Order: sequence, then structure tokens, then C-alpha cells
Amino acid sequence: MSSPGPASRPSTAKKRPYRKPAQDPARRLAFDALRAVDERDAYANLVLPALLRKAEQDVNFTRRDAAFATELVYGTLRMRGSYDAIIAACVDRPLGKIDPPVLDVISLGAHQLLATRIPTHAAVSATVDLARTVLTDGPAKFVNAVLRKISQHDLDTWLEKVAPPYEEDAEDHLGVLFSHPRWVVSALWDALGVWQPEAAGRTAMEELLAADNDRPAVTLVARPGRSTVEELRSALDEDATEAGRWSPYAVRLAEGGDPADLRAVRENRAGVQDEGSQMVAAALAAAPLEGRDSVWLDGCAGPGGKAALLGALAAERGAALVASEAQPHRARLVARALEGNPGPYAVITADGTRPAWKAGSFDRVLVDVPCSGLGALRRRPEARWRRRPADVANFAPLQRGLLRSAIDATRPGGVVGYATCSPHLAETRVVVQDVLKGREDVEWIDARETLPGVPHLGDGPDIQLWPHLHGTDAMYLALLRKR
Ligand SMILES: C[S@@+](CC[C@H](N)C(=O)[O-])C[C@H]1O[C@@H](n2cnc3c(N)ncnc32)[C@H](O)[C@@H]1O
Repeated sequence: MSSPGPASRPSTAKKRPYRKPAQDPARRLAFDALRAVDERDAYANLVLPALLRKAEQDVNFTRRDAAFATELVYGTLRMRGSYDAIIAACVDRPLGKIDPPVLDVISLGAHQLLATRIPTHAAVSATVDLARTVLTDGPAKFVNAVLRKISQHDLDTWLEKVAPPYEEDAEDHLGVLFSHPRWVVSALWDALGVWQPEAAGRTAMEELLAADNDRPAVTLVARPGRSTVEELRSALDEDATEAGRWSPYAVRLAEGGDPADLRAVRENRAGVQDEGSQMVAAALAAAPLEGRDSVWLDGCAGPGGKAALLGALAAERGAALVASEAQPHRARLVARALEGNPGPYAVITADGTRPAWKAGSFDRVLVDVPCSGLGALRRRPEARWRRRPADVANFAPLQRGLLRSAIDATRPGGVVGYATCSPHLAETRVVVQDVLKGREDVEWIDARETLPGVPHLGDGPDIQLWPHLHGTDAMYLALLRKR
């Protein structure tokens, strides 16, 4: 990074005239977002909208700037693993020795050079201008030198150079190619091997990891009895929408559609919800049950997506929903999600492992437990770098405790759903098998039968969804019946 300063130049050297760096609000905003993610452990999906709202107060900040900044932030965070490997090949020191803000600027430049159609000279000069604005001149020169090296090859050529051969280390190879930590590649591969043994080879893994890097389409839920798929589609440009593939309540928006423009969303009759989450709620509601069907519990309800769909489904059947959540601020979100629910409901703040209700009170119970979130990596670009293998072990006691309490809360003949947005085996089937050990009062229900026509769910009785096979988050669901 050291470069001779002006004073040490030979006196004959021609001084370049000083040029003020061009100000570029989109790249600057993207840099600020990356810093917030690095420094404050901020979530990109929270920090970016806040920065955009602020920037949009300036009339010169256009929609195009907003879209570009969003692409830079999400793309750079998501592909960080691949870019780090490429940057490491272009510098003569370990990446840990590069100042994090300098590395952020280089990564933003790498993303423009390797994954956008921005011409090379524009990507380099605009990023060096950013470096001159947010760093000092020395680091800006370093950024310039590294970006020039990166610009010598396209992404595929670089990946071929920096990834270890597949035959030598398949997990590392895929991890570098598809920008996933190695332990996540291993965990996903283990799970895919159990659920889809016929289709868990290299190609399937490449498809799964590539799907994690795709930005998911925005999916809406038309809450039954309150809105319909037809209403949502006709309120939008119909050609820019698609009915869901699996959930009868889902509408998928084409790029650029804004859910906030919809009256049904503003009135809480519809919402934004991944189709996988809709399928979990619908499957619990469809599970066969003996006798009464009038009181349901969502034991881990925050922020309330599934509770809102369950509330609407319960109302159609004349049943009531109790939505419980441990965190008060998340319980408030649940209350907002359920506002206007056509049937009776209550939102309570309670620790689901120390229930605030009498055992055997409920006919249907869902626990969508806290988990590593490895099934929703496409939504949270920084999550894969933040999670650690130890997180999975740390969630284990809570997941088991919540499932035990859910079973206790269910009356004989009633049903329990255990869900995660992770396919990690230690958070899914292993938890249910552990909890059921030695319990004679619970039996499995074949969850596949609650989702007729949906392929690739596994051999049962529980189900696992996959981004590359279903276009949903990788949700897991086990359905159980209390004897
Ligand atoms: C995966 S999220 C649930 C998502 C929710 N079902 C939805 O669709 O919007 C898990 C939730 O469980 C809550 N939680 C964590 N520990 C809990 C506990 N001991 N009892 C009840 N809820 C808990 C978390 O605060 C979080 O809101």
C-alpha cells in the first residue's frame, strides 16, 4: 500500500493535476451499508432500506441509483467468499492484514468488474474515486492496483485459477465457486444426501448453491377469506405476476414490483411471505385430526408471517388462534400481522418452554423454532458468513424444549408441527427423533399427504423443501399426532 509521496519524487517528475474524485451516491451508499454490516453486525436487509430512505430525500438520487446500490450491496455480500479468494490471489499479504474499509471498496469494485456489465474502465475509475473519497490517497492507489489485476480475467477464469480442483477437495471447490463457507457446503450436502439420495451429486449441489445466490422473487400471500390471488394479480400488472407453484395463496412478483403499492397489503389482507412458509402453515392446517378443531397455537410466532396465515385459515373453520412469542418487540410485530384477522385470536408474550397455558389445551400447534437459517441464505446475503457451526449446537436444547412443550400443549388426537428454515439435519429430523425417543404418546403423520402434488419432498413422513427444487426457502416440517 506504500507509495512514494510527492516529496520523494524526483524533481523532474511531472505532477498530475489534482482531480477531485467524482461523487457517486449509489457507490457511496453501498460502501456505507457494507461498513455497517462489518462494523455493527447490521443486517443488510434492514440497514439498506434505511440508507435508501435517507438518500431518496435528495431529488437527484434516482430509482436507478437505488437499484444499483441494492445490487452492489447484495451481490458483494453474497459473493464475498469467491471475491476474497480472487483478491487474495492479487495481493501480497493475507486478507486479514488489509484494512476492512479498504477490502470493502475492493470487493465492491470486484463485483462491478466480475458480475456486472459496467465497462472495466468505468468500474475501476468510479471505485478508485470512491476510495479517494472514503479512504486516503495511499489506499486508493492500492485499490487501483488490485482492481487492475482483477480486471485481467472474467469471473469464470478467475474461479478456475483460485478454486482447488473438485477431485482434490469437492467441498472447498464448490465453496469457492459458489461463495459458501465450507462447513455450510458440507451440511447442505449431508442433508441433500439424506432427502434426495438419487439426486445429491455434484450437479445437484451446484444447483442448490447457485439457487442460494439467486435473489428470490418477491412472493405475496393472499390471506384466505380476506383477499384472493385474483385480486392481487388484477391489482398488479397481471403479466408481471405469476400464481404460486405450490401454495394456493401465493402470487409471485416479477422484478421491480413493489408490494407496498397494493391496497390489500396496506390493509393487511395480504402480505409478503415465501411460498415455503405458506406451505408449512397450510400443511399444519390440513393435517388430519380427530375430534374438535377449535383452538390453535403458534408457539414461536414472531414476526407473525405464519401466524397471519394460520389465523386466516383458523377463522375459515371457526377456530381461534393463540400466537405466542418470547420477545416483546417481536410479539408486537405479530399483533400487527394479525390485525383485522376475521376470527378470534390472542397474541401473548411467553417463553414457549415454560408455557403460559394448560397442558393439552390446543387442537393444532405449530413451533417454527429459532434455527441457523441455512435454508434462507438467498434472503440474507451476509448470514452465511456470520453463522458458525457452533450455532447449530447452541440452538439444540431450545429446539428440543420447544418441541416438547408443543407436544404437551396439544390435546390427545391433536396435531403438532415442528418447522425450521434450515435443512441442517441436526436441527430437523434429528431433533424430532430425539424428542420422540421413549415417548409413546406421539406418532408421525405423513406430511407429504398434506401437500398433494408437490414433488421431491423425500420419503416421508417429514418433508424438506429446497430452493433449487421448489423455488422456496429450504423449510423443514414434521407433523405429529398426539395419541
Ligand atoms: C423462526 S422464528 C418464527 C417465524 C414465524 N413463525 C413467522 O413465520 O413469522 C422463531 C421465533 O421464535 C422466537 N423464540 C425464541 N425462543 C423462544 C421461546 N423460548 N419461546 C417462544 N418463542 C421463542 C424468536 O424470538 C423468533 O421470533
